Parts: sequence; C-alpha cells; structure tokens
Amino acid sequence: MPTSPDQPIIRVRDLVKKFDGRAVLDGVSFDVNRGETMVIMGGSGSGKSTMLRCMIGSLVIDEGTVELFGEDICSFTDEEQMNALRKRFGILFQSGALFNSMSVGENVALPLQEHTDLDPDIIATMVKIKLELVGLREHADKFPAQISGGMKKRAGLARALALDPQILFYDEPSAGLDPVTSAEIDQLMVDLTKKLGVTSVVVTHEMDSAFTIADRMAMFDKGRMMAVEAREWYEGLRDTPEAESAQLSYDHRLIRQFLRGDAKGPLTERKAASNYEEDLLGSAEPFENTPSVVSTRVSSLSGPIIDDEDDESNEGT
Ligand SMILES: Nc1ncnc2c1ncn2[C@@H]1O[C@H](COP(=O)(O)OP(=O)(O)O)[C@@H](O)[C@H]1O
Ligand SMILES: [Mg+2]
Repeated sequence: MPTSPDQPIIRVRDLVKKFDGRAVLDGVSFDVNRGETMVIMGGSGSGKSTMLRCMIGSLVIDEGTVELFGEDICSFTDEEQMNALRKRFGILFQSGALFNSMSVGENVALPLQEHTDLDPDIIATMVKIKLELVGLREHADKFPAQISGGMKKRAGLARALALDPQILFYDEPSAGLDPVTSAEIDQLMVDLTKKLGVTSVVVTHEMDSAFTIADRMAMFDKGRMMAVEAREWYEGLRDTPEAESAQLSYDHRLIRQFLRGDAKGPLTERKAASNYEEDLLGSAEPFENTPSVVSTRVSSLSGPIIDDEDDESNEGT
C-alpha cells in the first residue's frame, strides 16, 4: 500500500518493547514526515537504539504498531515482506560495519549485487556516484583498515545509499569521531538530505550534532518519550533563563538540563535520590538508566551500539 506524499513515512503508535519483562520503551507514539530529519535523543540507556531497531523491524515489539511507508510491519507474516521493505531504507551503524576483506568500492557494490540484476558496468557506475556523494571517489580501492574513522562512516553511508533508499537510519553517527570529523559528518548528512530528498532518522546523544541536523527532535528518558517538537522549540527551552526555568514543568526542566548539560537539575537530583535509596535498601535502578549529559562533543570510545542487526548485546551510548 503506497503512502501519499503528505502522509507520514513512519508512524509509531503506543509502542511497548520489553526485555526480560521490563518495558524499555513504554507507550511511544510519533510520526516521521517525508523529507524531514528526525533526531531521537536522550541519555545513555534511555531506549534510543531500541527504538531504532523496532523501527527497522529487527526487534519484535510487545504492543502497539510501527508503520513504514503505510505498511504495518507488525502484521507481516513472513520474512520476505520485511525484506522487500528493507530495500527501501538504508542503515548506518556506528562502526560503518564494513566488510574488512573487501575494498570500499566492493562494500558499496554489495547491496546492488545482492538485490538487483544490474550489469557489472552499471553497478560500477552507481558505486562511483555513491562514493562521489560522500566524497570518497578517489578511495574506492582502499580497504577499511587503510582509512580513517570518518572515512569508514562515509563508506558506510555510501553503502547505505546504494539502493537509493527513501529513509536513512543512523545510530550515533558521530560516536568515536573527533570534533571536526564529527562536524563534517553532520554537514554531509544535511547536504545529502537536501540533495536526495531522503527522510532521516538519527539517534544521537550529541547536542551539537542534534541542533545542526534536526528538523524535529524526539526526546527520550527511561523509555518514555517526553517531547517531540521542532528544533526551534528545543532551542527556546535550552535558552530559557535560569530565573524563568522554575516555572517550567518537571519534564521541561529535565529536558532543559539535558540540552544545556547543566550540573544541577532534575537529572542529577534523580541520580542522587536513587543513590540514597541504594544506600538505604541495597538496591536501586542501575546508573546506566540515568541519562548522562553531554554538552560538548565528546568522543565516545566505550561500548558498541549496533554493529549489526543480530547483535543482541546492545548497550552503551
Ligand atoms: N537485547 C537486550 N536485552 C536486554 N536489555 C536490553 C537489550 N538491548 C537494550 N537493553 C536495555 O534497554 C535499555 C535501553 O537500551 P538502548 O536502547 O540501547 O539505549 P540507548 O541507545 O538510549 O543508550 C537499557 O537499559 C539496555 O540495557
Ligand atoms: Mg544506543
């Protein structure tokens, strides 16, 4: 069932996802509109990567619906239906997830060889076009071990673009990159969105990055979606003076603290409270569930995010 241009390209309703009986996403609803860049943000362990994996059909959800291109992916009865849909979106994982034994060009050619019947000549031309788009045309013959982290991301992006997807999903695209390279990747994402008219869904806890690329942002905290608003709304909240912030709701003060990276606020009060509880009772919510605040570009060197769709040991940023 094709969607009309003004219908949301992704629609999530009342989504609940549990791990071991614990709801990691608890009643999440939002839309992603055609052509926009939606940033999913929140602290470590807030459920961002899980949200992404539910949207790409790599996790089975417990309640609610996820619609892509107007199709309810939860209603699919066989894997073929999901595979057909997968050709219409691209995914950039944290590491770029390139095959080390293949050159950059071969990595980008792979989806075309697997999913199309195109002649090798045509595929070679398409690979050149994709590499040109990400600024890597000169580097087609290099192997992943021979290129920098930023170039690996670019190569991963070229591969994600191979089948001309309508949606691009990114999980922490700037993780592990230095500030300048990270800003370059942000700029590339903005340029590609403009040039190709793709819809992007970007998971990040990086504020600088979020404010550079987002049209709208969905803010997650402990599996709850606290707000989904335009970037300007978040800018307004971030810049609300201290004196006026006392009048904000608890949720808005919490988001404000996250956006500003302030040391004081609801996030730290909550952390302290759970610390006290732990002292008292010998148990508390694990710290990883408390959003860590990142106000400047900090290269996150720890923890895999998702290197491939089958990796269940997915924790960290
Ligand atoms: N496969 C899994 N099995 C059990 N728990 C998981 C699994 N994946 C994620 N979690 C838990 O779900 C919560 C949200 O994780 P995640 O979506 O990775 O957060 P984020 O990407 O925002 O850092 C965390 O508490 C994490 O430990
Ligand atoms: Mg994550």
